[in-house]
Amino acid sequence: MKPSRLNECGNWVLERFPVTKFWNDHMAHYYAPKNFNFWYFFGSLALLVLVNQILTGILLTMNYKPDAKLAFDSVEYIMRDVPWGWLVRYMHSTGASAFFIVIYLHMFRGIMYGSFKHPRELIWIFGMLLFVALMAEAFMGYLLPWGQMSYWGAQVIISLFSAIPVIGDDLSLWIRGDYVIADATLNRFFAFHVIAVPLVLVMLVFMHIVALHEVGSNNPDGIEIKESKDPWGHPVDGIPFHPYYTVKDIVGVAVFLLFFATVIFYMPEMGGYFLEHANFIPADPMKTPEHIAPVWYFTPFYSILRAIPDKFAGVIAMGGSIVVLFLLPWLDRCKVKSIRYRGGIFKKALFLFVLSFVVLGYLGTQPVTPVATVVARLFTTVYFGFFLLMPLYTRWEKTKPLPKKLTPAHSLEEQLHSLEEQLPAFIEEITTKPHHSEIGDSAFKSSFFSRRPNPEGMAHVITRLAQKVKGSLD
Ligand code: HEM
Repeated sequence: MKPSRLNECGNWVLERFPVTKFWNDHMAHYYAPKNFNFWYFFGSLALLVLVNQILTGILLTMNYKPDAKLAFDSVEYIMRDVPWGWLVRYMHSTGASAFFIVIYLHMFRGIMYGSFKHPRELIWIFGMLLFVALMAEAFMGYLLPWGQMSYWGAQVIISLFSAIPVIGDDLSLWIRGDYVIADATLNRFFAFHVIAVPLVLVMLVFMHIVALHEVGSNNPDGIEIKESKDPWGHPVDGIPFHPYYTVKDIVGVAVFLLFFATVIFYMPEMGGYFLEHANFIPADPMKTPEHIAPVWYFTPFYSILRAIPDKFAGVIAMGGSIVVLFLLPWLDRCKVKSIRYRGGIFKKALFLFVLSFVVLGYLGTQPVTPVATVVARLFTTVYFGFFLLMPLYTRWEKTKPLPKKLTPAHSLEEQLHSLEEQLPAFIEEITTKPHHSEIGDSAFKSSFFSRRPNPEGMAHVITRLAQKVKGSLD
């Protein structure tokens, strides 16, 4: 058969550019462990949110003005007058919080299954560099709407640099480009936020994935699938990433988009956590807001800063709380990777670490009180204890024997089927039906929509869920 013109064109390109080779190496012939669970959705979700941020960012830039006199009004203009501007802005601001939620869960998965351990140290290091770049990106983006919290938040954080002995004052002046946060600061933050840091992020994501595909993915059992191969050289416990995981990831994306859209359309400010109330007031250099707090994703680190009485020591502790994460591959001395085969000490230590992160995060959103400071100091100690004592407790803890093959995971089809069966009983448990006389006879009122939440049933469901999560770790 004679090849069509389109085929000829395709072949012409393929002879000169390795599209098929790239697709095969990284998708169709890339073998991933067959027991990935929902924790493995968060890598692809992070990619999705990154694309969302870049696309909505480009659209916002078309109407935003990086000028101290115009910035606040240009954001109001986007929200009120630009067609669909409100949606683009909310997708970007909610996207920032979603990015951190996804990344925190992605990092937690890595710690839980020991994905940072040999031979994946470099994937972890690139990941941590991504995390730092992401924090810089979010921090600089937050100045752009030029609201009260943008202004004073940046003022507080940049003035931290002045705590560094000798060079501190000059350094913070150099960063701001003026004696206070001003137009010069806004302009340079804009340049970094829209082009410099996104380029770094994209490059780092590329390096993160290349490093991952060089050594192969870890999995919930934490054993290497490359160690047992079939006669064709493929891992026995592996499946091609495409079509198996490309299709599975669509389910994760669909569930994520449901949550994402709910927040965008019904609670875009998330009670002041995603968009702080004080940021709806234009920046005023003469008026400090009563309570300055960073956005929620920075608050655990901000709490550590405030917990230390000396400013410079606080800055060192805050920096140290991020640096210790880089060292994780060398702090963990355990023979096994996954939490499934580790001893009880690690599980308890990880629980305390998560607790300290959440408590510090909450305290960082609240004003300072003497009691809050004591609690913050206690949990700062727990936070650092998790890392600094790790070489000791992971070396001595008793581990379970590792399996030779991966433990089977329930297929998505099985999971959806059992969900379909359990859903009516689940709704029955978490809601109650009001008495007939309370609602009248109309079909609509006596339907699902008339049901009320049942706190007792919800408590039972949460307890069962917690037991299930605990069980899945054993
Ligand atoms: C823009 C940010 C990021 C993107 C787009 C991203 C993307 C991905 C993707 C697509 C994967 C493969 C799928 C998966 O295993 O879930 C992955 C794996 C991984 N990522 Fe990230 N990542 C990001 C940030 C991070 C950060 C901040 C860390 C930790 C510091 C990290 C640590 C890891 C590790 C250890 C793996 C291997 C997991 C395993 O094989 O079990 N990543 N990442």
